[in-house]
Amino acid sequence: MYAIAISGSPRPKGNTETLCRRVLDGLASAGCRTALHSLAGRAIAGCTGCAWCRKDGHQGCVQEDDFQALYAELLLADIVVIASPVYFGSATPELMAFLDRAGYVARGQGQCLARKVGAPIAIARRAGHNFTVAQLLMWLVINDFVVPGSSYWPIAFGGAPDTVNEDAEGLATIDRLAANLAWVAGKLTA
Ligand SMILES: Cc1cc2nc3c(=O)[nH]c(=O)nc-3n(C[C@H](O)[C@H](O)[C@H](O)COP(=O)(O)O)c2cc1C
Repeated sequence: MYAIAISGSPRPKGNTETLCRRVLDGLASAGCRTALHSLAGRAIAGCTGCAWCRKDGHQGCVQEDDFQALYAELLLADIVVIASPVYFGSATPELMAFLDRAGYVARGQGQCLARKVGAPIAIARRAGHNFTVAQLLMWLVINDFVVPGSSYWPIAFGGAPDTVNEDAEGLATIDRLAANLAWVAGKLTA
């Protein structure tokens, strides 16, 4: 089983990456091969709506940038965790640029993410987690993912880098999420 986590923070080594590592550690303990993909330092433009991806048997997206390599990883993964810091109540524009293109391509090319197992995670200093989780859930569900729950909504608190490690309940929620992702994926492939 191959599990990836996509960190939507433009800040390297911040709280979002910490949570991604945490969920991947749990998945590795459950026997998964894992990889963390951070959007920090990657250049991924937004969808232009050109619909090239929906014409003439085209594969992938016509825009050449860092989208291609990450989309290839998305196609390979059995388990996909999408994590974002909350920016003014929402997921980051870097993450939404990737998700808009990935979703439009995948839905235009045979709904090819169907029945992967996925989950959102939102991290914020103070507020806006639930809206951001909902935003990411909307993407997962329309792309036909199977989404397990956890012991709480998949959120955690943290402002400065590493302060998320002080949120014991948040970390416990992520640990349970990792266990549930592996459990559900195991049931689906049994
Ligand atoms: C542009 C910007 C907007 C932010 N908006 C919010 C917000 O709406 N609510 C909140 O609680 N924290 C907000 N924050 C704080 C981040 O969500 C928080 O610091 C988070 O831990 C950052 O994750 P990272 O370390 O992975 O980058 C904002 C931070 C930035 C830079």
